[in-house]
Amino acid sequence: MTTPEMRRSALEQAGYNTFLIRSEDVYIDLLTDSGTSAMSDYQWAGMMLGDEAYAGSRNYYNLENTVRKYYGYKHLIPTHQGRGAEHILSQISTKPGDVVPGNMYFTTTRYHQEHAGAKFVDVIIDEAHDPTALHPFKGNVNLNKLEAVCKEYGKDRIPYLSLAATVNMAGGQPVSMENVRQVRKLCDKYEIPIMLDATRAVENAYFIQQREEGYSHKSVEDILKEFCSYTDGGTMSGKKDPLVNIGGWLSLNDDGLAEKARNMVVVYEGLHTYGGMSGRDMEAMARGIEESVEDDHMRARIGQVEYLGELLLEWGIPIVQPIGGHAVYLDARRFYPDMAQDQFPAQTLAAELYLDSGVRAMERGIVSAGRDVVTGKNHYPKLELVRLTIPRRVYTQAHMDVTAESVLNVYSNPKKPKGLQMVYEPEYLRFFQARFTPLG
Ligand code: F0G
Repeated sequence: MTTPEMRRSALEQAGYNTFLIRSEDVYIDLLTDSGTSAMSDYQWAGMMLGDEAYAGSRNYYNLENTVRKYYGYKHLIPTHQGRGAEHILSQISTKPGDVVPGNMYFTTTRYHQEHAGAKFVDVIIDEAHDPTALHPFKGNVNLNKLEAVCKEYGKDRIPYLSLAATVNMAGGQPVSMENVRQVRKLCDKYEIPIMLDATRAVENAYFIQQREEGYSHKSVEDILKEFCSYTDGGTMSGKKDPLVNIGGWLSLNDDGLAEKARNMVVVYEGLHTYGGMSGRDMEAMARGIEESVEDDHMRARIGQVEYLGELLLEWGIPIVQPIGGHAVYLDARRFYPDMAQDQFPAQTLAAELYLDSGVRAMERGIVSAGRDVVTGKNHYPKLELVRLTIPRRVYTQAHMDVTAESVLNVYSNPKKPKGLQMVYEPEYLRFFQARFTPLG
């Protein structure tokens, strides 16, 4: 528990950035679902079976088999977390002047694409940029947008399509099986590989089961495998779906590309049979993957997110709809309709929420979007959101109630804040470490 005075002081010290608040000053931590889930007894038991050989650990082979079994990819290159895999993939596949189309950007993913010299082009459907659009698969790729990019640049300048399922920045929104099938056809026509950001692909599979015709009787496990079969490889942050605190991987079906990745991973991450993870970490991830594809686990996990979202909707609070897989996203523009985007409405809302109750959330708006690498100008994303992200197997319904009540307090407070001014802006991925002061 914290007092209003403690929170005011902690927030000032943190430069109004929730990433810079100490966790001991947080009451309910909904900053992220990344690495914050609770491991099960089965996973902890696996930690005791760590084979900490430098090379060829049995846990590596177990993880490789597990990824093959559930995701279907041929080669596994372990990394310390998702962005390690994004780095390796970008470096082995992308050259300056290339173009990477994707269904909305993710911060670290786009950073590594741009760092390798590529330009990112958004090809998601328009509904994804509208928080009120009720499309059941707001993560879908717009095939016309994708085809236009393919025609303009061709296979020589497009190393791959970057397909995320679910789409984090759109509000945890899924991609349908029909869409990935069509995307596969189109990419085959232009000979462009598809690389899946598989970070929350199990959650995506659950949404297909719940919403797409013909899938209600299939298991999440089978749906996941079919979905991945339309792609050529994937990057994974093990800190989400796979239920571990650290770890990731890059998977590839192409032998030549996998050889390049195995060579590069030794420079940045570690030998190709551990890539920055200990044996016990790899064992915990293999077991976490097994648990993550259980229908009951997904129903409970997403059910909790929906519980919070539905409570907020009942109280008339503006959130992104449909409710996403890993988080509820508050629509900051509708909290503060008079605040300019340059005054950081979502950053302000995250700060207000922390001040009210000690609930920590994350900005997903103009601060996260950063600047255009060529012009240096701010991106102005349509979505200006605050993410209430739910760790897996950690909180109870009562925590969701406290959170919802605090959101209501902030929403109905007649005294509206004036916004923030950025006083320190780091060069890369500024949202992590930027500092602000309040206006007015
Ligand atoms: N892709 C997606 C869709 C992600 O959400 C993340 C991380 C990554 C890649 C990068 O993985 O953190 O293991 O390096 N998302 C976290 C979040 C940070 O809070 O959403 P990482």
